Amino acid sequence: MANTNAEIGVIGGSGLYSFLEDVTEIQVDTPYGSPSDSLFLGEVAGRRVAFLPRHGREHHLPPHRINYRANLWALRSVGVRQVLAPCAVGGLRPEYGPGTLLVPDQLVDRTKSRVETYFDGVPRPDGAVPNVVHTTFADPYCPAGRAVALKSARARDWEAVDGGTLVVIEGPRFSTRAESRWFSSEGWSVVGMTGHPEAVLARELALCYTALALVTDLDAGTETGEGVSHTEVMRVFGEKVGHLREVLFDAVGALPENDERSCLCVDAHAGWKLGFELP
Ligand code: ADE
Repeated sequence: MANTNAEIGVIGGSGLYSFLEDVTEIQVDTPYGSPSDSLFLGEVAGRRVAFLPRHGREHHLPPHRINYRANLWALRSVGVRQVLAPCAVGGLRPEYGPGTLLVPDQLVDRTKSRVETYFDGVPRPDGAVPNVVHTTFADPYCPAGRAVALKSARARDWEAVDGGTLVVIEGPRFSTRAESRWFSSEGWSVVGMTGHPEAVLARELALCYTALALVTDLDAGTETGEGVSHTEVMRVFGEKVGHLREVLFDAVGALPENDERSCLCVDAHAGWKLGFELP
């Protein structure tokens, strides 16, 4: 019988719709509804990996329609405890041009319509009560995962940027020039559409979460041209996706064993009594 467990999750962004060969495809239902697609389970560097295309394999889900809660819950329910999350972003500084890989250490939420917690104080359809929990989120990304991602990129001759702030907009439209200039003037580094609430939901599930932000364009404020276009985003992502896959494969192999994690993510709920069991 096929192995339906995994230890590491990879959530593929725009342009990364398949990751592994020789996969077992499984459909997972969750108390929060269906994830973006099936989970594709396979092995990389001797580690069990679950791949989930964030927008669905046909890219049918815009960022604000993604069921982030179901996605993270589904991954955890097959055993995943560490998540690598590549995403396409716009650069907010001239030096972060297309092709830059940045591993952010901070996040700013500018989204509007998204459910961003499992602990919303109302009973779920299955009767479990997601009680009130205030999750520590000062450092939104896993320090161990970040170190592994940076080392893996550099070993593949990609001088990834260590740290920076990812501002997440609601989308699906790109930013105006004024918004973009504002983000830059705040000192934020890159702008994307999916990093929130993915990171906080991962933390609520005590998962290690590492974003790998691939710059596909200089956002509107730093550009003199027509503004950001989706075609350009997809073109640049397509150019870099092979390199990104190599880095992700190496990173999967270099992550700690799940039961040897010693980062802050593991203790996300220290002191809280949860109203339901984590899967
Ligand atoms: N994804 C890729 N480029 C982007 C941009 N400029 N703004 C928001 N999301 C993006």
